[in-house]
Amino acid sequence: MTSRLMSVFLLSAGALEVTVPSDPETGMAGSSVLLPCIFSLDFQRLEPKSLSVRWIFGNKVLAMFSGKDLTSDGRVMLNTEAAMKGNATLLLYDVKVEDQGTYTCSMEYNGELQQKDVVLREVNVTWYRNGKIITDDVVTGKPRREGNGTYDVNSTLVVILSKIMKDEMAECQVEHVTLETLIKENFLLAQIGESNRPHFRLAHT
Ligand SMILES: *[C@@H]1O[C@H](CO)[C@@H](O)[C@H](O)[C@H]1NC(C)=O
Ligand SMILES: *[C@@H]1O[C@H](CO)[C@@H](O)[C@H](O)[C@H]1NC(C)=O
Ligand SMILES: *[C@@H]1O[C@H](CO)[C@@H](O)[C@H](O)[C@H]1NC(C)=O
Ligand SMILES: *[C@@H]1O[C@H](CO)[C@@H](O)[C@H](O)[C@H]1NC(C)=O
Repeated sequence: MTSRLMSVFLLSAGALEVTVPSDPETGMAGSSVLLPCIFSLDFQRLEPKSLSVRWIFGNKVLAMFSGKDLTSDGRVMLNTEAAMKGNATLLLYDVKVEDQGTYTCSMEYNGELQQKDVVLREVNVTWYRNGKIITDDVVTGKPRREGNGTYDVNSTLVVILSKIMKDEMAECQVEHVTLETLIKENFLLAQIGESNRPHFRLAHT
């Protein structure tokens, strides 16, 4: 009798479960980043009206999906169809310095509230040519997390050889909260050929 009651209790207590990555997510300044949040429920018997998804940053509700209605901030997107099936991952566009911090994925179902935090950090790769920031002719990939807690980011500056003037300098800077100082790499353009592909690794702990 006791064990039966116990298992009924465990089932209902475990009805809503929210999962987020334990490591910080890293976004690239200026591009978009996904803040993952997955939840499990008895989807077969889901009453959509009783489900409420909220993403909170600081004291601001960035997105709220409740009773099939979605309200969201201009720079985020929540896929409501996916959210009804357990994926409340938030897409954040045009990542900025001030977006770094802790995001809360908050789920409510039938009065039960579960929430988890996702930490966002930002990598900013900046290219300079003769001391001036350049954004055209730069291709920066998405950061990739390595197993050992570092990030791998590729950034390429495409330079047209025939347009290089004498003594032109290029510099690549990488900024990340875990770096005490910027990583800087300087190149004399005449030496680097058609494109350059410096490689950086960032420890995230
Ligand atoms: C959740 O959705 C995001 C896109 O919004 C996708 O990248 C991710 O793979 C999905 N996760 C799962 C577990 O389905
Ligand atoms: C990236 O760094 C550059 C150079 O410091 C700065 O001008 C730019 O605003 C930064 N971008 C973001 C999105 O933080
Ligand atoms: C960066 O480029 C190198 C060489 O092309 C490649 O091996 C590596 O997988 C790339 N890393 C990322 C994060 O795209
Ligand atoms: C982390 O892993 C990468 C890829 O396997 C490796 O190149 C790098 O040296 C490692 N860094 C540290 C600090 O262990």
